[in-house]
Amino acid sequence: MKNIPAVLEYHDRTKHRPSRYAASLGYMDWATQPDPFRRYENAPLIALKFNDNTPPYHLLFEPNLLPEAPLCIESLSQLLRYSLGLAAIKSHGGSEWALRCNASSGNLHPTECYLILPPIAGLNESTSLTHYAPKEHALELLYRYHESIGEDTFLIALSSIIWREAWKYGERCWRYCQLDAGHAAASIRISAAMLGWECTLIAADSSEISALCGLDQCARYDVHERESPDLLFQIRRGTLNKPSLPSLIESPANRLSHSHHHWPILETIDAATQGSYPSPIRLKQKRRTPPPSKSSGEIVLKRRSAQMMDGSSITMEQFRQMLDASLYCQDTADVHFVLFVHRIEGLEKGLYICIRDPDELQSLQNAMDPAFEWFDCTEGLYRLQKGDYRGAAQMISCNQEIAKDGAFSFGMLCRFFESLERDGAIGYKNLYHQCGMIGQILYLEATSLGLSATGIGCFLDDEFHALLGLQDQRYQSLYHFTIGRAVIDMRIATYQPYTH
Ligand SMILES: Cc1cc2nc3c(=O)[nH]c(=O)nc-3n(C[C@H](O)[C@H](O)[C@H](O)COP(=O)(O)O)c2cc1C
Repeated sequence: MKNIPAVLEYHDRTKHRPSRYAASLGYMDWATQPDPFRRYENAPLIALKFNDNTPPYHLLFEPNLLPEAPLCIESLSQLLRYSLGLAAIKSHGGSEWALRCNASSGNLHPTECYLILPPIAGLNESTSLTHYAPKEHALELLYRYHESIGEDTFLIALSSIIWREAWKYGERCWRYCQLDAGHAAASIRISAAMLGWECTLIAADSSEISALCGLDQCARYDVHERESPDLLFQIRRGTLNKPSLPSLIESPANRLSHSHHHWPILETIDAATQGSYPSPIRLKQKRRTPPPSKSSGEIVLKRRSAQMMDGSSITMEQFRQMLDASLYCQDTADVHFVLFVHRIEGLEKGLYICIRDPDELQSLQNAMDPAFEWFDCTEGLYRLQKGDYRGAAQMISCNQEIAKDGAFSFGMLCRFFESLERDGAIGYKNLYHQCGMIGQILYLEATSLGLSATGIGCFLDDEFHALLGLQDQRYQSLYHFTIGRAVIDMRIATYQPYTH
């Protein structure tokens, strides 16, 4: 149970409350705005080629149907382009900003990506450590190993620059970094699936990820801009050897801000949640193949967060398909959905729960308000109470109207205390990763259906728990979400990235 008190303290302290939001500057300090793009000095930049030939989206969910692409520079380029690459350039009022395939809280993009690759023609002659540079769609070559990694397989590591989110969100930002890492992880999984590649989460120790990527080489980073190790994936099957770095590689990281604001609790929570990453509990049900849809690449690039919703309804089939899509990430069994149903044809307005691990039914019933009706709507969906929850949804989502104007919005209610007991303090990180992965998949599924979504990191934690009658830490909501039809802001112009 080491470090669990630190997790519980951070979690409670960073809850938004109606009378007081979690501590942050409370204004945007433009003078210290961090550079959204990490680069390394002295690292040769290898441009990646474009390949726009991606399979239909629905085929990603047919097991073993898509042929396995060979490991070459073109396929690697596709993997990164459709996971962490730029998806659009937006401009308005003289300013311009890039949006990426992976959603990110405040578009601040704390997640960085490292690849340990075998020799690949046109890229490197020996096993190499590389860093993905999304702005250039290129790989920075950080180190050439003397050892080999194996053949036809490689490693991807994700890390977070917590300062990027702290700049705007202060103490609550560590939560957003973890959700963002989950979004990035699911983006990589989906992009690997487009290539028919397996993407396996490795239950590595945080210190191992740091050592593999050189994140522990403190001299290369500004003290406030260090990267915290998140997740490690093996891509494609094959015997793998993890090569090691010398104690200092000669590529210092760029400086992201010239000065920083300090939030000591962020160091405490980050230190408390290092360790051996848990082996996931898998869901019992699998997602069904969705109806035919457009090319997967088009859907990934089109995915955008709605900033306003038009208040229209969606069909029951669309709703069920969205719930089913969340089963794609099999290692998300700790997450249930508590839904505010506003406008779904054939489903009464009200408060619902979708139980994604059927074994949890009794435990959830015991933890929640005994007055709930638990009317069985089949396939794990239960109505808790009829009624108009639009006002409650908006209020709980820090008064954001998207939560009431969507067809439905929901909170991701996680098996909390038991997960921490089972996995230790790093289980807290893993719960956010589960929620983020689900979020990214739901964004894509909504896009495939012609709908839109928005992740909601800003919500009043205990107001939501009180509404459900939750009185302890058995379940906690860690991420909120809304799905409906977006109103497009015509004042904002959109351009294709990478055209220059
Ligand atoms: C973890 C997370 C939390 C978010 N929270 C909010 C939120 O509370 N309100 C909101 O309008 N958008 C929220 N968003 C959406 C982001 O602002 C959006 O992803 C970002 O601006 C990039 O735009 P894009 O998703 O269209 O690429 C959130 C996104 C993520 C991933």
